[in-house]
Amino acid sequence: MSNRYAVVLAAGKGTRMKSKLYKVLHPVCGKPMVEHVVDQLSGLNLKEMITIIGHGSDLVKEQLGERTKYALQEEQLGTGHAVQMAESYLKGKEGTTIVVCGDTPLLTGDTLSELMTFHENEKAQVSVLTSKLDDPTGYGRVIRNEHNEVEKIVEHKDASDEELKVNEINTGVYCFDNELLFDALDNVSNDNSQGEYYLPDVLSIAKERGLKVVAYTTPNFEETIGVNDRVALAKAERIMQRRINEQHMRNGVSIIDFENTYIGPEVEIESDVTIEPGTKISGNSVIKSDAIIGPNSEIKDSVIGENTVVKQSVVADSKVGQNVNIGPYAHIRPDSDISNGVKIGNFVEVKKSVIDTNSKVSHLSYIGDAEVGKDANIGCGTITVNYDGTNKYKTVIEDEAFVGCNSNLVAPVTIKKGAYVAAGSTITKDVPEKSLSIARSRQENKEGYVERLKKRQ
Ligand code: UD1
Ligand code: MG
Repeated sequence: MSNRYAVVLAAGKGTRMKSKLYKVLHPVCGKPMVEHVVDQLSGLNLKEMITIIGHGSDLVKEQLGERTKYALQEEQLGTGHAVQMAESYLKGKEGTTIVVCGDTPLLTGDTLSELMTFHENEKAQVSVLTSKLDDPTGYGRVIRNEHNEVEKIVEHKDASDEELKVNEINTGVYCFDNELLFDALDNVSNDNSQGEYYLPDVLSIAKERGLKVVAYTTPNFEETIGVNDRVALAKAERIMQRRINEQHMRNGVSIIDFENTYIGPEVEIESDVTIEPGTKISGNSVIKSDAIIGPNSEIKDSVIGENTVVKQSVVADSKVGQNVNIGPYAHIRPDSDISNGVKIGNFVEVKKSVIDTNSKVSHLSYIGDAEVGKDANIGCGTITVNYDGTNKYKTVIEDEAFVGCNSNLVAPVTIKKGAYVAAGSTITKDVPEKSLSIARSRQENKEGYVERLKKRQ
């Protein structure tokens, strides 16, 4: 194996996206396109990776961090010019350089590795990854000579009618002999319809010098989609989504409606989980076995324990234990920790709260900045009054406490172990252990009042 280097092209603004966001940062299944590419390259045993970025693409750097080095392309003069920006890192070094575009998020590490191995085995100076598309519109066409050898790549905009009929396309991935690459780039001109320095022109230069130029055609044409506009972005999203869902299904996850289930690439799901239609699971979420998620639920950066059910609800940046029941229509907001056996029922919002084992908040409540103990029962309509307009305060509801319906718990306040709060109370002081607190005006019945009133009228 020779020394391996990679160059990722990510400096193009992506005019066709019509977006403020740099093209390669547009997400596919929640992860920026360029990060998919870098992730897939990371299995190739690379000595160095250089990502070419443009002005104002600090966000690309922020996204990828230290995993790659960066070279700035001040002006976007074409893909050939872009690769030249890596000169200070790579020029003159012995080895193989793989060049990948940041807008081909579906390429897999397997395919990239196959191309690399093919290139090394063929002892070629240039290998290009090609694929055959029913609709090659927009892609560079691979033009072969009478011996079926690759002669050159012609961009769509520069192609003759005859060349446009060719359905073998350049995927934008190549392996080059590194020394040849930087030498040939000096000879690439911008004499074409777009006035750009085209990287694919290195192929014809190598060919003219009598060097070995070959193509490796992948049968997985779906992997090679280059995302230039939002239509292609949606296509890529679809394919990636299906790929992710199929992998989970093969691992023992039941996905009832895989066309309408959206799972991020980093999500972990154990076997015997069921995902109901219309569900989105994103970030670094983990779903443990036998859980049922959905229909129509959203889980973000959260852990959902074994055998837990989340129905028509949203859970974000939180931890949920085993045998928990959430929903329908509950909202678990960030930094909540819900223990085993808890029930969070309809129209309950929980924020930054700990709810310990087997406690119940079954209906229409707001639990914010609270610590709820074990086996507590929080009645319908209970509100933790946590905010005075300036600061947030904590409510503590200890083990086995029973809070009656429609109570306001004005924080900071503690309902001690086993205490009762009468329905309709507004609690402003701590309630001692095992006592009953009634904080509402006493009921007065005026007997015979209605009859007296009617007589007066
Ligand atoms: C390119 C190829 C085309 C191929 C297609 C595959 C060229 C000239 N054409 O066309 O043969 O079929 O990819 O998807 O290479 N970029 C820079 N700096 C620049 C220009 C582009 O960094 O000056 C980056 C872009 O951010 C992008 C990649 O290079 O990630 C490809 O550029 P793009 O404009 O999308 O090229 P295509 O027209 O798709
Ligand atoms: Mg492109």
